Amino acid sequence: MRKRVLFKIVAPFAVALAAASCEGDEGNTCGGPTPEERARNQAVFDALAPSCQGCHVTGARGYFASIEAFESLVVYNPAEVVPGKPDASELIRLLEGKGTRAFKQMPIAGPPFAEIAASGSTKMTMAQIRAWVTNLESRASDPLPSIEAHRITRLSAEEVGRALYQQLGLTDDDFYLPASSYGIPHKTSQNDDRYPFTSADSIPAPYENLPVERFAALGGGSAPNQMKADGSVSPSFLGTITQVSQRWCALALDKAGNTALLPAGASAQTGSADAASVKAVIRFWYLHFHAVAATDADVDRVFSTVFVPLEMEKDARNAYIGTCSYFIRHPDWIFY
Ligand code: HEC
Repeated sequence: MRKRVLFKIVAPFAVALAAASCEGDEGNTCGGPTPEERARNQAVFDALAPSCQGCHVTGARGYFASIEAFESLVVYNPAEVVPGKPDASELIRLLEGKGTRAFKQMPIAGPPFAEIAASGSTKMTMAQIRAWVTNLESRASDPLPSIEAHRITRLSAEEVGRALYQQLGLTDDDFYLPASSYGIPHKTSQNDDRYPFTSADSIPAPYENLPVERFAALGGGSAPNQMKADGSVSPSFLGTITQVSQRWCALALDKAGNTALLPAGASAQTGSADAASVKAVIRFWYLHFHAVAATDADVDRVFSTVFVPLEMEKDARNAYIGTCSYFIRHPDWIFY
């Protein structure tokens, strides 16, 4: 449920800058291929992919990661394909074992593509691929950013940790005790119920593994553990941010003398009977977590749809915890 809401809210960002124009020369439309051209490129992609995908789905040579990657890095890249001129196209030369640069053929080992095609085991013949180049319309790539490209980025696991410590008024001391292992300084988790998470690469190094696993669930990478950071909004990220935000909001509210969340003098006992005080906190949290100056309507909505129902379920403290974690699980917090 939470996940669906998230994507619905995120989608409008993608169309926000949709009004891109393209001033190329006539007939050199740069708005991307027509549906017919896309279909012809897709057929070539599908015919080549089984022979190429093994080495070209990721990294700088990720030509076969998607049809868009294939089009922008190969099809409409004059260094690889010269529209109308198969013999001048390095792609064709590579497929036929006549490459003129560092490599003679693709795939780099075994028979080149043309030979595999000659044996009849590919979806297109070499002659059909040559004909595709002969009939290819040239397209300048659009100098403007793609309207489909991601424009917003999720906070990394490290950023989630730093932002939460700062915004909730928590530090490593709330989660760990100093320790030492073979004379190397470590930090040992006081209690895993607090849902600590930390990078394996942090100094002092974490003694237990659970905080490190939680960090990985948030998409954090680690050089010594040979794990790549994962910037996607995965189910494990959402599950972990939900648990962590609720637990840490509770820790922050219960922490003696902590004024990060509730201004000095305010109390987590103050419920909706004193609506003005609660709304003042909600207004402050809009600024604090989302850097947004909330309208009265925003504040009223969070008050009546988040705070009040949670208070009715249990008590005011419960409502503050839930409202605090609502702000943290919100797309305005997760993305920038
Ligand atoms: C076994 C791994 C492997 C396979 C399979 C493979 N390639 Fe490559 N390809 C490479 C490597 C390695 C390079 C060079 C990368 C570099 O220079 O960084 C390369 C480079 C290329 C280049 C750039 C060459 C240049 O000089 O600009 C093209 C184009 C290419 N491959 C197309 C293909 C196509 C099309 C297929 C399938 C028919 C294919 N590759 C299959 C490993 C592979």
